[in-house]
Amino acid sequence: TMSVGARGVFNAAYEPLLFEVDTIPFPAAGQEQQTLDAFARLARDRQVAALIVEPLVLGAGGMLMYPASVLAELKRIAERCGTLLIADEVMTGWGRTGTMFACEQAGIAPDILCTSKGLTGGSLPLAATLATDAIFRAHYSSDRAKTFFHSSSYTANPIACAAALANVGIWNDEPVADRVAALSRMQAEKIARFNGDSRFENVRTAGTIAALDLSVGNAGYLAEVGPRLRAFFLDRGLLVRPLGNVIYLLPPYCVTSGELDRLYDAVDEAAGLATDKR
Ligand SMILES: Cc1ncc(COP(=O)(O)O)c(C=O)c1O
Repeated sequence: TMSVGARGVFNAAYEPLLFEVDTIPFPAAGQEQQTLDAFARLARDRQVAALIVEPLVLGAGGMLMYPASVLAELKRIAERCGTLLIADEVMTGWGRTGTMFACEQAGIAPDILCTSKGLTGGSLPLAATLATDAIFRAHYSSDRAKTFFHSSSYTANPIACAAALANVGIWNDEPVADRVAALSRMQAEKIARFNGDSRFENVRTAGTIAALDLSVGNAGYLAEVGPRLRAFFLDRGLLVRPLGNVIYLLPPYCVTSGELDRLYDAVDEAAGLATDKR
């Protein structure tokens, strides 16, 4: 993951250990075709083993969102060229983008899917990698010497597995999809107050995720306003962890309308922290 992530503060310390990968540009609004063309060119000209994407929303990259149609087209190109699609649904999975998995909105099934956070309802650390039968079978062997001996102290930790089973039980037995839909509607309605507000840019939602960028001169992950925003929210008893000048609200599915109002009122007030306005 380190090697395929955009080079920056997250992986700079490991730079000498990282291998080179090809990258394609983010499908920003109006530039989707450039992304598709760049992938089609690479997949045609080189033997690309796999395309790894965060479906619909890039999390730590700045809560950047792109349409499901782009994801569907990337999968179509990958299939045509014999390239596997790996969907990192660690952040987007379990209802975050409005559907259980973000890939569903593009009507695609990835060849490999990574899931974590929401697998235990965010309560305990657990991750799983899902693969198609073909990939599973290609790796399966009854020869124990061929086992993928990659493990850690807490692999298949029984308490984390019990939490995941309890979470799956809730998804099976309770109207979670309705809850996610109701929260998605609330997020869209409540963040709309900042549409056209010059203190903010890129007001956006994807299901239960809402984000907006505080207009500052020095934008990005290391934006000077980031730590001040975080302290501001914490002072008010709100756990909001901005990505630089990007404020995002990713509440638990049990959040109430009144609690969201408190959050949005604080976001409104927080805009005053931008001293170096764009
Ligand atoms: C999209 C995405 N992928 C992967 C990870 C890392 O997941 P884990 O800590 O389960 O390895 C994160 C963690 O924040 C993430 O947001």
